[in-house]
Amino acid sequence: MQKAIIVAYDTNRAIGRGGDLPWGRSLPADLAHFKRLTRGGDIIMGRKTFESIGSRPLPERENIVISSRPTGVKGVLTAVNLSSALALSRYPTFIIGGAQVYGDALGVPEIDTIYATEVDATSPDADTFFPELDMTVWEETDRVHRPADEANVYALDFVIYRRKAAQ
Ligand SMILES: NC(=O)c1ccc[n+]([C@@H]2O[C@H](COP(=O)([O-])OP(=O)(O)OC[C@H]3O[C@@H](n4cnc5c(N)ncnc54)[C@H](OP(=O)(O)O)[C@@H]3O)[C@@H](O)[C@H]2O)c1
Repeated sequence: MQKAIIVAYDTNRAIGRGGDLPWGRSLPADLAHFKRLTRGGDIIMGRKTFESIGSRPLPERENIVISSRPTGVKGVLTAVNLSSALALSRYPTFIIGGAQVYGDALGVPEIDTIYATEVDATSPDADTFFPELDMTVWEETDRVHRPADEANVYALDFVIYRRKAAQ
């Protein structure tokens, strides 16, 4: 069963600003990519990311929120840390952020894939970042470029990184 990280970051690896995405809602192509990959699977997120999506479950996915306190929201499972969240997950599982949860996930061997959207933007005032990848551990296996257009303000690269087999 696949377990993967899914993330979008800019040229400085920024993922967040003031509790939202640094580029706001200006990249619908990335939101569509996110939906296409995660639909039908389980999504694991930190409590602040859950709040950033409106404190409601995303439809057609099992939503698991990591927090020291239950969310009290119907249709959402709560786990106290990433390993408990992974134990609850049954289907293809996507770690959807934020920074704290990504940091934990990069150290879990069974999470072996990163779906990264690399946004060709430099966001001012960003406050949340995706860690630099250790390229002795990860390798890039796929990259698709998508130019900016009327609906999408910035160009994107959809990139896949895989965890290298243990030597
Ligand atoms: N660009 C992207 O792809 C992307 C994706 C996701 C989020 N974001 C952005 O990232 C920002 C939010 O990220 P963030 O790093 O600030 O917060 P976060 O990781 O979403 O949430 C942090 C909270 O999750 C819980 N938590 C996480 N790891 C834990 C652990 N090991 N043990 C116990 N509890 C744990 C804690 O909740 P409690 O305090 O309730 O205990 C903690 O305060 C927002 O700006 C959001 O828009 C961007």
